[in-house]
Amino acid sequence: MKPLFSLVFCVLLLATSDAYSSSRAVRKVDDLYRENCQSCHGAGFFKDNEVRWMHGGSADEIARSIAEGHPERGMPAFGESLSAVEIQGLVVFLREKEKQARKSASPPARSDRSGIVPSRHAAFRIETVVEAGLEMPWALAFLPDGRRLVTERPGRVRVFDACWKTSTEPVQGTPPVLAKGQGGLLDVAVWTGGKEPWIYLALSDPAEDDSGKSMTKIARGKIRDNKWANEEVIFQAPLAFYSGSGVHFGSRMVFDEDLLYFIVGERGDQMAVQDPQRPQGKIYRMRADGSIPPGNPFENDARAMPGLWSLGHRNPQGLALDPRDRSLYATEHGPRGGDEFNRILPGANYGWPLVSFGMDYSGKPFTAFTEKEGMESPLHHWTPSIAACGLACMSGDAFAEWNGDFLAGGLRGELHRLRVRDGKVVESETLLSGFGRIRDVRCGPDGLVYLVLNDPGRIVRLVPAASDAPN
Ligand code: HEC
Repeated sequence: MKPLFSLVFCVLLLATSDAYSSSRAVRKVDDLYRENCQSCHGAGFFKDNEVRWMHGGSADEIARSIAEGHPERGMPAFGESLSAVEIQGLVVFLREKEKQARKSASPPARSDRSGIVPSRHAAFRIETVVEAGLEMPWALAFLPDGRRLVTERPGRVRVFDACWKTSTEPVQGTPPVLAKGQGGLLDVAVWTGGKEPWIYLALSDPAEDDSGKSMTKIARGKIRDNKWANEEVIFQAPLAFYSGSGVHFGSRMVFDEDLLYFIVGERGDQMAVQDPQRPQGKIYRMRADGSIPPGNPFENDARAMPGLWSLGHRNPQGLALDPRDRSLYATEHGPRGGDEFNRILPGANYGWPLVSFGMDYSGKPFTAFTEKEGMESPLHHWTPSIAACGLACMSGDAFAEWNGDFLAGGLRGELHRLRVRDGKVVESETLLSGFGRIRDVRCGPDGLVYLVLNDPGRIVRLVPAASDAPN
């Protein structure tokens, strides 16, 4: 069934032009709102910033209010004059207004004078561990001997000791990267299954023909005397898939014993995402040495990408394994609205670009579908977007109250806690907001939460409020 997807996509585009639209006839939501809604609802939609949905605040309920109206109460129906795509765009627009209203009504929780941030299950303090000297740090990983590795997007790996001291020189000889747009040196992960740890890097690999194109690549090596050694390529796409696009590389990596999961983003090529034969917009599972383990979902499809595990992804930049049942979760950047938290199941299709809770950045909606038969819906989504980046599953004693919870970061400066039970999010909480650009979130071997921040590049950690002063 899988090779049919791109064909099905094209047919859908033609057949249901009301539900999908890339045509110029679609108007921007700002204009739609100003022309159709503002006269009654005002520019902000919510009066006095008070958020109250009288007819339901879910995406479906808001869409129904707009399409069917509430004629008996003076709200006209727009199902005839606006397309389903435009209505979905207005849903995203109203969600943005909702967030603005909530923000103005009650500014986010801040630490008090003592520096303590309250939250539902655990109060914490924030300590800075690396104050300066990092340019666009992207990822953090812990070595078994207590050292820490930090990647910087322009192409450097830095080694820190257990007290967060580093030498002035980054690791010499790491693979070249094309640091253009969103590309560069991305994730770092450590595999301790061998005698000496292997270090895995996810990066945007410059095409060898010097065409200025690049593609997500996974390489591993060892660090000896601050030098990169024994490099091996774990994943590299054929040159034909390298592209001049500077967006959506992914990537994150996670180990489940000797199995490696990693992400390749959609690279701005939406049509490739639904095609198992093309590398973009996919999550993969391989052995630590890059060989393909038995039991992968597409193993009987000789033309599918080797190692393919799931498809239909846009640009996931958070990946975490729940150590309790070893299930995999990812967070993914939506467009304008519709950032997702997904449980990643083998062979599953996550729907991009056929289903989405978001719209185009320009304000032009493109799909009316937020769900579809045969496609996985997110366990949780954020509209407006938090620019989801970095995901950790909590374990250890330091924050025992959060054990098994997922912490999801966002470049919009938010840190969210999600509790999953029986495949559903049963609790969600904003732990931090307005905090700076959160690029990576890790649960350290000490059970503390580490955040990698950009602009400026810093590393901070969350420690329980009751614990002693920093060491
Ligand atoms: C002629 C005035 C008028 C216009 C134009 C209008 N609305 Fe409404 N709308 C109302 C009224 C009045 C209500 C409240 C109904 C009630 O009190 O139950 C309402 C309710 C709603 C609700 C439900 C809110 C809730 O609390 O559940 C939504 C959503 C909504 N409007 C969206 C829109 C959008 C989007 C547009 C433009 C496409 C629009 N409206 C245009 C008058 C209008």
